[in-house]
Amino acid sequence: MTTTLAPSDRTVRDFYDLLPYNHFDDPATAIARARANPLSAYPDLDATLAEAGPGLSAVEIGCGTGWASNALALHYGARAEGVDFSATALERARRVAEATDSGARFVQSDLFAYRPATPPALTLSIGVLHHTHDCRAAFDHVAGFVPSGGLFFLGLYHAPGRLPFLRHWRGLLEREGEAAALAAFGRAMPQSPDPEHLASVFRDQVLHPQESQHKLQEVWGWMEAAGLRLISTSINRYGPVAEPEELFAEEAAYAALSEERIAEGRYFPGFFTMLMERP
Ligand SMILES: C[S@@+](CC[C@H](N)C(=O)[O-])C[C@H]1O[C@@H](n2cnc3c(N)ncnc32)[C@H](O)[C@@H]1O
Repeated sequence: MTTTLAPSDRTVRDFYDLLPYNHFDDPATAIARARANPLSAYPDLDATLAEAGPGLSAVEIGCGTGWASNALALHYGARAEGVDFSATALERARRVAEATDSGARFVQSDLFAYRPATPPALTLSIGVLHHTHDCRAAFDHVAGFVPSGGLFFLGLYHAPGRLPFLRHWRGLLEREGEAAALAAFGRAMPQSPDPEHLASVFRDQVLHPQESQHKLQEVWGWMEAAGLRLISTSINRYGPVAEPEELFAEEAAYAALSEERIAEGRYFPGFFTMLMERP
């Protein structure tokens, strides 16, 4: 990596170098996770990939420990390239690729300095751009990779859907300290298979030094300015996209849903996805 990072991006890289997000203590767990296809959690992306068939070129921006890039290659036969600036995260991503023979490749780069060698049919970025010094600039840069007919799958923290989560967990942290907050986090998130994974998720989502939150309505403007159109979004549970105003009205209810889930003691980090295409 030869470019100079913005100061907050350097802080973010150092944060993930210490412990990447979704890092399992036992590599076998990461390998089992990639084999179980975690991408099936996104039904719109899953269906699109299944329909596209093998050979699709894909670039993942901010791939971290590589579960999505490895799953793209393993389950959909995609030619996947994962990009991240954390050497620690990439070490694990490559180890899983080797163990599963996924064929996914991994590149260390600041996303702002990266450009794919050829325009990928699918660009994806899950939970990354909101950790950069400028989410809009990151969006514009990454949207520029998408060729005509290409897809862009994006996951971002939602405003205000994220705020109940932050209030709850940061409040608990302040009142009861890190050990108690982490233990409670583990009870809300029982699917976490090992303590290191739990800690990696907790610090990513509760102790992060840099994050922003965004509205679908806001990203809609970025999307239109970049010449993209929306195919589907988690905001209306991947239903048909008719009028944007209908989606924005649904979006307004997201904060209340988030409050409800948090009050029920559930794990609800306030995240939303968009699947877009360039016509
Ligand atoms: C919350 S993690 C998400 C990782 C992965 N997408 C996942 O879902 O497990 C954010 C990732 O983005 C990477 N990242 C953040 N800013 C970046 C930048 N400017 N350039 C490259 N990678 C970046 C971090 O190193 C980290 O691995």
